[in-house]
Amino acid sequence: MKDISDLISLLGGTGAIARKLGINPSAISNWKKQNKIPKTKYEAISKLSLDLNINIEEYLFPNDYKGSKFSILLIICGGIASYKSLEIIRLIKKNNIELDVVMTKSAQKFLTPLLVTSLNEKKCYTDLFSIEDEANMNHITLARKADIILVAPATANIMGKFANGIADDLASTILLATFSTVFLAPSMNPVMWENLATQENYHKLLDRGIKFIEPESGDMACGEFGTGRLPEPKHIIDEIVNNLNYKKKIQKQFNNVSVVITAGPTIENIDPVRFISNKSSGKQGYAIASELSNRGADVTVISGPVDIPPPKCNKLIKITSAQEMYDKTISILPADIVICSAAVADWRLIPEINNNHSLNTKHKIKKSNHNLRFTTLKNPDILETISKSKRRPKLIVGFSAETENIIENAKSKLISKKLDLILANDVSQNKVFGKDTNKVYVLTNNNCEEWSEQSKKSVASNLANKINEMFFS
Ligand code: C5P
Repeated sequence: MKDISDLISLLGGTGAIARKLGINPSAISNWKKQNKIPKTKYEAISKLSLDLNINIEEYLFPNDYKGSKFSILLIICGGIASYKSLEIIRLIKKNNIELDVVMTKSAQKFLTPLLVTSLNEKKCYTDLFSIEDEANMNHITLARKADIILVAPATANIMGKFANGIADDLASTILLATFSTVFLAPSMNPVMWENLATQENYHKLLDRGIKFIEPESGDMACGEFGTGRLPEPKHIIDEIVNNLNYKKKIQKQFNNVSVVITAGPTIENIDPVRFISNKSSGKQGYAIASELSNRGADVTVISGPVDIPPPKCNKLIKITSAQEMYDKTISILPADIVICSAAVADWRLIPEINNNHSLNTKHKIKKSNHNLRFTTLKNPDILETISKSKRRPKLIVGFSAETENIIENAKSKLISKKLDLILANDVSQNKVFGKDTNKVYVLTNNNCEEWSEQSKKSVASNLANKINEMFFS
């Protein structure tokens, strides 16, 4: 959003404007503080800008998204607060943001799709199995098209479905199929909100990076008092617009910047049925890939075998072993930024029996009375090779999964592998692998920051901010 303080300076400063408009300078200081000019002064301000080459609209109508590509998908669930969704639709349209609306079956008991269609001047979607809708705008397109999905009101039911992966109607299927920022604005009876099941679902979703517009406390329509009331539509839309403004600010941050990210574990086969690997889920690396893609970077991900949905990226290359990850990564360089988040197996194992008698590993090794021994063969270090290569990328980020002396070990890797940045975490007692949250220390050559435990998506977003500072400095 354009800063009103900048506009004031462009127009000659607080004193000059106060004099020309015949108002107190403190009023103008207030405009600057609130980053807003009262509507009654628009005309006078426009006149002041006449001879100057200033696009005043950008300052006075910062939330007008006409012509921008931003779009919202509003999911209306069935609750007593469903009627407030009509005002939400009106406010979204007033901001000129493109809108699609999905209604659950129970929402249609409170509002009709016809009413919503007339308000939004666009078809309202209700059915997962509609042949006509699937042909025009299928559920995956609906899930992927929006920058923001807003569920308002969000019932205990949709929270339960979303938290537990149930996709039995259009709304819940979209929620599982989206990469977009999802906001839930819960509204329900206070006892339902406080219920352990709802609270568990709420925390599960929070940990996965889902955003909440918290329910308010007060008298409820059902006659009870407590927390569970849907906030006013204006408050909901302010939060959404703030998020869109933030997206607008960062969406081109990494335009024309190429990023290569390694993610997940590698698998080192011993024979056709046995292997060694590690517990990396790939979630952190994938979250970083999606975040940088959302910020305009050209992202290639080289991923070991994982069980999670693909990230948003330009290219996803799947590999199995460390040697394959090395070969593929080296083959797609040069890149501007390389982020090695993969947990690469340091060795592969060569089985042998009776002192150096190696085995044919093309077939499954047969059980015998001999003890099986392994010699280790060191895998190439992808990160170190790239960092010490002649065509070194401008920025190299490594990860350091440790079970003891976290910071000291990470620091020595940062130095020995000549990295710009390293993220260290404590992976003892299954604290990180496979989880949706991460607690990291972020080290550069002269600094060490401790970031509080947060969702892996949030770590990705903070890392992108950090990379932005370092890459463009
Ligand atoms: O030395 P260590 O393996 O603990 O370093 C971890 C960092 O090095 C991670 O960023 C990991 O992705 C990277 N690495 C690599 N190739 C290897 C081993 C680790 O790129 N063979």
